Amino acid sequence: MKLANKVVFMAGAGSSAPGWSIGKATCVTLARQGASIVAVDKHLQAAEESAEEIRKTGGIALALQADVADQHSIEQAVARAISEFGGIDVYIANAGIGKIGGIVETETADMDLIYQVNVQSLLIASKLIIPSMLQRGGGAIVTISSVAGIRYLGYPHLAYSVTKAALIQFTRMIAQEYAGRGIRANTVVPGLIDTPRVQKNVSAAFSSDNNPDEVRSKRNQQVPMQRMGTAWEVANAIAFLASDDASYITGTELVVDGGLTGKF
Ligand SMILES: NC(=O)c1ccc[n+]([C@@H]2O[C@H](COP(=O)([O-])OP(=O)(O)OC[C@H]3O[C@@H](n4cnc5c(N)ncnc54)[C@H](O)[C@@H]3O)[C@@H](O)[C@H]2O)c1
Repeated sequence: MKLANKVVFMAGAGSSAPGWSIGKATCVTLARQGASIVAVDKHLQAAEESAEEIRKTGGIALALQADVADQHSIEQAVARAISEFGGIDVYIANAGIGKIGGIVETETADMDLIYQVNVQSLLIASKLIIPSMLQRGGGAIVTISSVAGIRYLGYPHLAYSVTKAALIQFTRMIAQEYAGRGIRANTVVPGLIDTPRVQKNVSAAFSSDNNPDEVRSKRNQQVPMQRMGTAWEVANAIAFLASDDASYITGTELVVDGGLTGKF
């Protein structure tokens, strides 16, 4: 019960298709360690599904609809979390979107939207949540980037890669600003993870006819461990950084990629 009595504000708590996303697995993993989870997602139904998984095993969860890129909706979600649970100890920034394409295919509007969701959201929520953490004597922020933010993965994913890179540096900046005031901030950098979103959003980069078996097999083959990671393996890394086990760790990245980024 390493997160007993902790309140977690989980942004992007749902799954964009049926199955176990990183957000959903993280909700359940943190709740198993004693945390109360405020499961926030753009899609209420997705947030509800994660909250239901927690409640099934006796955990505490509140599902809320909010768009992380929208100041007003996050203000309301943070206010509700604080009124319901008295404050926030842990903030997980997991909501993320992308669009396959390079310079030619990426419109400035695509870049704007992906920046709003992947980066600006951290500014919006941090401004609202950090004061509560300070009142409670400290807290932990964990952001979810991607190996696409530190390497070229063999296909153009421009706006996603650029914004996931920015997220890493943004998190380091929070860490430096608040290191003396009890708030730690770190990034988890997942590699190729077998979540439902992959088949939905990036399958075209791996299979010309979106064949799910071909997508899975090609992604598996790229990884030195010969398999994609599971959402649970990423969730465990997030749980570690959110807990006091990581009490002397701030302003850094934990890469969870089966050896992928060390390969070349
Ligand atoms: N799956 C992978 O291989 C992989 C690899 C590296 C990094 N990641 C990152 O991990 C995170 C989770 O990925 P996943 O594969 O579980 O994806 P997912 O799409 O299943 O889950 C993301 C959740 O965030 C929600 N969301 C999206 N935009 C939102 C917004 N504007 N406001 C609120 N909620 C919003 C979605 O509704 C969804 O429930 C993402 O940030 C992704 O970039 C995934």
